[in-house]
Amino acid sequence: MSIDVQRAPGQIREPAIQVRGLHKSYQELRVLRGVDFDVARGSVFALLGSNGAGKTTVVRILSTLLRLDAGSASVNGFDVVAQAAKVRASISLTGQFAAVDEVLSGRENLILVARLRRQREPGRVADDLLVRFALTDAANRRVATYSGGMRRRLDIAMSLVGNPPVIVLDEPTVGLDPQARLEVWQAVRELVAQGTTVLLTTQYLDEAEQLADRIAVLHEGRVIANGTLTELRRLFPPATVEYVEKQPSLEDIFLAIVSDEGTTVTTASAPPVRAAKDPR
Ligand SMILES: Nc1ncnc2c1ncn2[C@@H]1O[C@H](COP(=O)(O)OP(=O)(O)O)[C@@H](O)[C@H]1O
Ligand SMILES: [Mg+2]
Repeated sequence: MSIDVQRAPGQIREPAIQVRGLHKSYQELRVLRGVDFDVARGSVFALLGSNGAGKTTVVRILSTLLRLDAGSASVNGFDVVAQAAKVRASISLTGQFAAVDEVLSGRENLILVARLRRQREPGRVADDLLVRFALTDAANRRVATYSGGMRRRLDIAMSLVGNPPVIVLDEPTVGLDPQARLEVWQAVRELVAQGTTVLLTTQYLDEAEQLADRIAVLHEGRVIANGTLTELRRLFPPATVEYVEKQPSLEDIFLAIVSDEGTTVTTASAPPVRAAKDPR
């Protein structure tokens, strides 16, 4: 089954990320079986998939941490296999487990990274990022005293040192409380406002709805749907209850797609959209 919504006209610049026919297996386990997608520059792209769908596998290949078996992938115009060093200079991966040093302050963490990445004015780089991520008040406190949301924001800020054009956030809000999630979402919007391209992986449908310009659903080794939220919604006619029109949520769309394996879903013959509970 495959659904591909037409790309909006006007997106003719070389994409920030291009993935074609990507395959990856771990021994017998065929995790990626021909993954294709593009991420336009300056956009937020959500790779949506259940636990174990292969999201981290995709982002580890894009970050050159893992070798692909077949297919191709490029970041910022550079091939992940043939030009790995240039890819590494173009992309920053923030994992779901914050990589900050608890003993140091937020400012010290940022300065440390700025030194490692050979920034000329590490203190100024740190201070700018502290302002951008609303951490100035907590700048000189040890990270051990930070809330989960503050820690994740600092982690994202650290990944921005040196201004990589592409940022990958692998499930950035896993384990965060609702308030901290909102703070991280705000931090992601901040990134986009600066023109950074963001590839976001998530299991949370509302997170993709909130943040992403385009959403791709990774399921059984392939991207089975790819479009803007509006385009994905258009694939499924709105459910109607008496005279009140109800738009299907992204979760309705997702559940309808993944529960309909082996069938081609088109706008003309969409399966009934199931009512679904909120995943939180
Ligand atoms: N190093 C590995 N060796 C063997 N299996 C792995 C390895 N890494 C991931 N897997 C398996 O590959 C599948 C996809 O994993 P992953 O990419 O982490 O999914 P996601 O990030 O979507 O949860 C899972 O079934 C996982 O158990
Ligand atoms: Mg993962």
